[in-house]
Amino acid sequence: MEHQCDIIEEILRKYPNATRDALVPILQDVQNACGCLSREAVIRIGAYLRLPASSIYGVATFYNQFRFRPTGKYHILVCRGTSCHVKGASSLLLLLRGKLGIREDGVPAEDGLFSLEAVPCIGACGLGPVMSVNGKLYAGIDSEKKLDAVLEECRKLKDLEGGTVQ
Ligand code: FES
Repeated sequence: MEHQCDIIEEILRKYPNATRDALVPILQDVQNACGCLSREAVIRIGAYLRLPASSIYGVATFYNQFRFRPTGKYHILVCRGTSCHVKGASSLLLLLRGKLGIREDGVPAEDGLFSLEAVPCIGACGLGPVMSVNGKLYAGIDSEKKLDAVLEECRKLKDLEGGTVQ
């Protein structure tokens, strides 16, 4: 398995002579490859772009998409915007909490399979309540049956992919 430092170096090589403008794409690449932005990654990226770690954290925390600790293999976002709230987002969150035994703090369950976060409007208000799993949008999840189908899809995918859940 490739060491995280090697992965980061490989990504940085794709951005020769990069300036601050490349920060967000680099952060995205590192998070996609490593699952989150570790302290070491932030320091290395800062050194590469000649930016203090505090600036990197400043930018990364401004965007919802970045995380600093590992999430579950399947990271679920539930929209808690007004429109989704009216259409039952709270019930959806409650169901997820109960079924997965986790809270919406991004911390994965013990088996590492799922993690959960409630987020502001994700721009699909007409389709609520909406949730996403690893960026894939699921619309109109207004019943336990529909939610179970989404969770089942993830579990099947995990079985297909095999291996250990990280
Ligand atoms: S309120 Fe949920 S997508 Fe906008």
